[in-house]
Amino acid sequence: MQIKKVGVIGCGLMGRGIGEVSARAGFDVVVSEVNQQLLDKGLAAIDASLAKGVEKGKVTEADKAAAMGRIKGTINVQDFKDCDLVIEAAIENLELKKKIFGDLDKICVKDAILATNTSCLSVMDMAAVTQRQDKVLGMHFFNPVPVMKLLELVKTIATSEETLSAAKAFGQSVGKTVVTAPDVPGFIVNRLLMPFLIEAVRLIESGLATREDIDQAIVLGLNHPMGPLTLADFVGLDTAYFICNAMYDEMKENRFAPPVLLRKMVTAGQYGRKSGKGFYDYK
Ligand code: CAA
Repeated sequence: MQIKKVGVIGCGLMGRGIGEVSARAGFDVVVSEVNQQLLDKGLAAIDASLAKGVEKGKVTEADKAAAMGRIKGTINVQDFKDCDLVIEAAIENLELKKKIFGDLDKICVKDAILATNTSCLSVMDMAAVTQRQDKVLGMHFFNPVPVMKLLELVKTIATSEETLSAAKAFGQSVGKTVVTAPDVPGFIVNRLLMPFLIEAVRLIESGLATREDIDQAIVLGLNHPMGPLTLADFVGLDTAYFICNAMYDEMKENRFAPPVLLRKMVTAGQYGRKSGKGFYDYK
């Protein structure tokens, strides 16, 4: 099937990025939020990101205006009815996501593909509440979406090859390199990233190395753009904690168990960059 109109549920950090790259690639886009205030905030953030693209010489003023013209904001889920692809980027709560998938299944045209941007939850659990399991898959983008080149496509045991190839074509048309990942907690990237991040937290917790030395070692020794503690702050310590727990709950392997320090920091509201404090101070 040919994808022309794309729906994005959620206009937070990930949803707005997915909406932006889709509109920039020429798709008609509908983005939704739970209320008008959050929708306005998300749309303003898309505008600001495109403005940054202009400033960096990646986007022209005309392309920015055209992209914004292709994006329609809504707080009414019925507006997804004629989308060919809907990507859910709501908060990481499986029950909420299942509810969204059940609603979309009833509202959307029968050929529409339903995707989730979840970073760790079971895609099959979302597919199972629909009457179109073959048309459900994971489309996991990376933050910041306009800049990161990867898209993980998560194929469940029920996803059809036709759905996978339509999603692949869409991913490539929004400028991403696509990999196919299994529907296991963390897929490929987080399966490898989270043990790495929490091992850095364990080094801090046990007092064996400083945050600066850990980060500098990885930036200079492995050529990563950010060290693991800076990256953990960037991803959000609450998000990293959630992903580790989801992986641990499903697999019961200690390598995924979040360290106590991470839990305490999350309890203290130290979420990293978004809260102004994590392993580093951002105030
Ligand atoms: N549109 C298009 N291009 C843009 C843009 C926009 N809105 N904003 C910036 N860019 C371009 C810039 O022009 C620049 O391109 P060049 O390299 O060609 O010059 C590039 O993007 C980098 O932009 P900046 O100069 O603004 O930023 P930077 O060099 O300081 O890098 C960073 C910032 C991209 C965040 C970098 O530090 C980085 O890659 N960090 C690691 C990020 C990462 O690992 N993300 C994944 C997190 S895990 C996740 O998301 C999944 C999960 O489930 C947890």
